[in-house]
Amino acid sequence: MTIRFLLNGEPQAVEATPTTTLLDWLREHVRLTGTKEGCNEGDCGACTVMVTDPDGSARSLNACILFLPQLHGRAVRTVEGIAAPDGTLHPVQQAMVDHHGSQCGFCTPGFIAAMATAHLNGATDHADQIAGNLCRCTGYAPILRAAEAAAGAPVPAHMRMDAEILAAIGSEIASEERDDAGSPATPTSADELAEWYTANPDATLIAGATDVGLWVTKQLRDLKSVAFLNQCGDLRGIVADSETIRIGAMTNMEEVRAFFADRHPGFAEMLRRYGSVQVRNAATIGGNIANGSPIGDSPPALIALGATLHLRKGTTRRNVPLENFFLDYGKQDRAPGEFVEAVSLPVQPDTLRVYKLSKRFDQDISAVCGAFNLTISDGVVQSARIAFGGMAGVPKRASTVEAALIGQPLSEASARAALPAFGDDFTPMSDMRASAAYRLETARNMLLRYAAEVSGAKANVLEVRP
Ligand SMILES: Cc1cc2nc3c(=O)[nH]c(=O)nc-3n(C[C@H](O)[C@H](O)[C@H](O)COP(=O)(O)OP(=O)(O)OC[C@H]3O[C@@H](n4cnc5c(N)ncnc54)[C@H](O)[C@@H]3O)c2cc1C
Ligand code: FES
Ligand code: FES
Repeated sequence: MTIRFLLNGEPQAVEATPTTTLLDWLREHVRLTGTKEGCNEGDCGACTVMVTDPDGSARSLNACILFLPQLHGRAVRTVEGIAAPDGTLHPVQQAMVDHHGSQCGFCTPGFIAAMATAHLNGATDHADQIAGNLCRCTGYAPILRAAEAAAGAPVPAHMRMDAEILAAIGSEIASEERDDAGSPATPTSADELAEWYTANPDATLIAGATDVGLWVTKQLRDLKSVAFLNQCGDLRGIVADSETIRIGAMTNMEEVRAFFADRHPGFAEMLRRYGSVQVRNAATIGGNIANGSPIGDSPPALIALGATLHLRKGTTRRNVPLENFFLDYGKQDRAPGEFVEAVSLPVQPDTLRVYKLSKRFDQDISAVCGAFNLTISDGVVQSARIAFGGMAGVPKRASTVEAALIGQPLSEASARAALPAFGDDFTPMSDMRASAAYRLETARNMLLRYAAEVSGAKANVLEVRP
């Protein structure tokens, strides 16, 4: 296929292997070497670029785990395209100079791309916006001062150009000569995907590529047959009525975080620490479930909320309670040719708390992630849904702990009485993130924390620090 997109305002038509990353293409083919390679796995932000979607929304993404076909019909702005065409520095560039935000400079292009995207979007949660960008020598205070200083400056006209060009000639840019039988497949709807995947059940589906990208950049895997799901607009978005919230598989984690900020703030707050803005802007909820990781962060919360997974193969659809989807380590209840269409959950009062424990506060994979959703009335626990990641080979409910709590008042004493039940529910493993004993102990402590929080104590580290 010919991949068409805008690069710093200029239309491109690229023939490339489907798993060529934007970073490799920029650096090796068009010699735009401002975008740096640090880790090549989405962790450092040195390769950050701004990508504008056909609807005009702009997001920062890591170019090292972004495959070229994911850009089809979109616009990319690299650090070379952030100063004005006449050379005038962008306000965040000028502020970085004024506030001494760069020393060796290796990380700086990534920071500039992340900060310019945040500036365009009017985002002022500066620390979160750059949590995915690592700097080894300047230290973050001058960079944060620069972001704050630039926040009030008007957005330069050229930064709005990508959205304007896409609005004017986007369909032309997205025009495609397609070979429906071939690979890569670029279906534009769930129906097209269903048909193609039934005929090609051994293919690899690529959603946000925050897992699959690493199969290519780190494991050097040669993915033979692939389908890119990013053009399936009907798989993306959240629809809610008075009873149900339905989240399309291609909804990214940043969209999920924003949606739940009011409904289930504990879930949203945990997602703020899921990867970084760049990772959340790419990673999808469908990918986070389908990959079957025992330490994926959304499944525990979704299981605690009573989520149902919607699977589809061809024209056949089936629904499974999310907790039943994870059969064993690396094994899910998904047939060849079957894909995740959506996940839904009942609308309910918010009693959910989600605790993510990781070695680093920001942008780290969980050692343990616990989600607690208990309903209490007449002073006693009426129902309990408690689920953990990192405590077994799959995301798993704490059924014995739940049973020990139901019918009891929720107090420190009743929580302590339920602690031995954790040993019946879980036999965690030791690995580089945590020992089995530590995992068991911290999972128990999370229940104590929930009981304390429900009784009004401040239990969030950001609330209790001086
Ligand atoms: C730097 C970094 C930080 C990260 N931090 C976190 C974190 O804090 N918490 C966390 O949970 N994860 C984290 N991850 C892991 C990753 O972001 C998630 O697992 C992510 O949700 C995967 O989604 P994706 O859309 O990128 O999936 P992809 O990489 O595109 O796909 C993942 C798998 O799911 C399959 N798949 C995708 N969509 C579907 C579908 N609709 N139907 C069937 N199969 C499908 C793919 O074929 C593949 O097997 C991190 C990753 C990186 C690189
Ligand atoms: S090179 Fe580190 S995030 Fe891309
Ligand atoms: S300025 Fe050297 S790594 Fe940031």
